[in-house]
Amino acid sequence: MQTYKTYIGGSWVETDKLLDVTEKYTNEVFAKVPLCDTKEVDTAVSAAQDAFESFRKTPAYERSQILDKAANLILKRKDEIAAVICKEAGKAWKYSLGEVIRGYETFKFASCEAIRIHGETVPLDASASGTNRVGYYIRVPMGVIAAITPFNFPLNLVAHKVAPAIASGNTIVLKPASTTPVTALILAEILEEAGLPKGVFNVVIGSGSSIGDYLVSHPMVKKVTFTGSPAVGDSIIRKAGIKRVTLELGNNSATIIEKDAIIDKAIPRCIASAFSNSGQVCISLQRIYVHKDIADEFSQKFKQATQALKVGNPLDQDTELGPMIDGKEALRAKSWIDEAVSQGATLVCGGKVEGRTLYPTVLKNTTKDMKVMCMEVFAPIVSIVEYNNFEEAIKHVNDSDYGLQAGIYTNDIRKIHYAIDNLDVGGVMINDTSIFRVDNMPYGGNKLSGIGREGVRFAINEMTNIKMVMINLN
Ligand code: SIN
Repeated sequence: MQTYKTYIGGSWVETDKLLDVTEKYTNEVFAKVPLCDTKEVDTAVSAAQDAFESFRKTPAYERSQILDKAANLILKRKDEIAAVICKEAGKAWKYSLGEVIRGYETFKFASCEAIRIHGETVPLDASASGTNRVGYYIRVPMGVIAAITPFNFPLNLVAHKVAPAIASGNTIVLKPASTTPVTALILAEILEEAGLPKGVFNVVIGSGSSIGDYLVSHPMVKKVTFTGSPAVGDSIIRKAGIKRVTLELGNNSATIIEKDAIIDKAIPRCIASAFSNSGQVCISLQRIYVHKDIADEFSQKFKQATQALKVGNPLDQDTELGPMIDGKEALRAKSWIDEAVSQGATLVCGGKVEGRTLYPTVLKNTTKDMKVMCMEVFAPIVSIVEYNNFEEAIKHVNDSDYGLQAGIYTNDIRKIHYAIDNLDVGGVMINDTSIFRVDNMPYGGNKLSGIGREGVRFAINEMTNIKMVMINLN
């Protein structure tokens, strides 16, 4: 077992109390990390504020080089980081390794974007009052950014906040999920080795909302970026005060399988989309709408593929589904399944809980008001629902408080355009499911799914202020 220090102001720091980090499959404590309180938050925010004065002036090529070095170091340590993700998040090896590769790419994208942050000219002579004046705007960093990240991608969702912040000359105080803090500390080692100046990146670890509330309401913090639940997002907005806030808040994601879909291509994608990381992904596939003409064939093949999944220890390289983040969550998800069944749903397969593991679960005959349909399940549970025509299916997808991403399987160009026009979501994936994401895409949602967009270039826009310049030549 390893005891870690945390990283504040460019120093490795101990605190009075330690927090146990458990391996989610075995339930054994495999690491201890410092538990921070408001004192450490103050130190971290002050360090970030001090560092900002010089970091904001660091030339773009230097910030780009640091990010490039960090990316390469992530790649060099990929097996070690993937093993930590397996242990602390319970994510199966192949998905943990996939996350590390994505983390590498996110830093690479940020390295490229760092050298192309720019404004544009503004034709002031559009008005007589602007004649003989030059106008342009530039993008400038905001200052200290508070980043609060979830357990489900301990590296890549941290990278989505940290890498664009560095690219744009901001400084960061990160509060990673208390269940998965070790990956964030490894990232701190990497950023230190990559040459990031002291104080630019700081990590504070706390459980519950105590230090999180203090951090987001801190007067020196200029921007808050958060990924997590709508309830916490709502509370952050209220506590942050007048600060820019980006929120990425989840979904009850849907995918439509039209009757011209190639079922044998759609099935493996839908299986991975519903069950990777035990369904604990904001764009995890939760509602599958299948045209009635192909519904029986689809359901039968989907059931077979679900039952063939290997459930077990995430560190075994052929495991496809590991445990959920905690036992209470597995039981909460199980209670939603039981409730749906008591309300008339059919359990096609799964529904069994062992420790933190919920077996991959397929439901049919669900209705839109059941929790497994209208709320974000964040568990390996998927419902298959038949529909009669495409317009009706689009209405079903939109009948949600959320609007992050949706998928459609069809090759009919008219239906594709109808879907693009009518789906109220942040991203439409054609011939794929809601889960598709490459880390340079704009990513974020409508409605309760959040505010703003991530995806490196888009996060940089959210982390910079526009400064308008006018030069009077009269
Ligand atoms: C999320 O769960 O919000 C992120 C999903 C992803 O990056 O693939």
